[in-house]
Amino acid sequence: MMTDVPNDHLSIEKRSGLPEEWRFLLLSYPRSDWLSHASLGEHTKFWLQVHRSFRMMGAHLNERTDAYESGIVTAEQFRHTMVRRLQNFLGSLDHHHRIEDHVFFPKFMEAEKRLVAGIELLEADHTVIDAQVHAMVDVANALLRSPASDKDALKRNGEDFAIASRRIVKLLDRHLDDEEEIVIPLLLDRGEEELMT
Ligand SMILES: [Fe+2]
Ligand SMILES: [Fe+2]
Repeated sequence: MMTDVPNDHLSIEKRSGLPEEWRFLLLSYPRSDWLSHASLGEHTKFWLQVHRSFRMMGAHLNERTDAYESGIVTAEQFRHTMVRRLQNFLGSLDHHHRIEDHVFFPKFMEAEKRLVAGIELLEADHTVIDAQVHAMVDVANALLRSPASDKDALKRNGEDFAIASRRIVKLLDRHLDDEEEIVIPLLLDRGEEELMT
């Protein structure tokens, strides 16, 4: 598996979308047509639903972080509502990345050589996101361990958690959009039978 970002300006932190060189299939299969496309298979639909659930969790994290930062919920309330749901979310994300890296991406690269560098970029995204998952687990644990009586620690750890949460949501939103725009047109073009089963 490749983990280095091939071109720094395309790193997940810096890019605002895919470069033209990996969008050639997207021209024939625009996002607006995906869900109604005759070639859309069940595995692809499921995969898009998983992405949708990650986006929803990201939006929920951002909402709760807004509520905490604007003082609507206290640090103590924040940790109770956030940390437990987070475990499922981060676990699902890790599982999803492993399947993509080890099962699907090798097949996709084999099927379309012109997309190899683009898929390597997606693998590099996973490395950055996975590092942020670990960082997030650390700040979540610190927030959970903060004694309710130690208001300073609660506040400090709540703020660290909010920063880590916003960062992972931003990374994930970028990654999901770009991954879909490489992978979905390929699956629609070749059929998921060959590439996902
Ligand atoms: Fe991914
Ligand atoms: Fe994915």
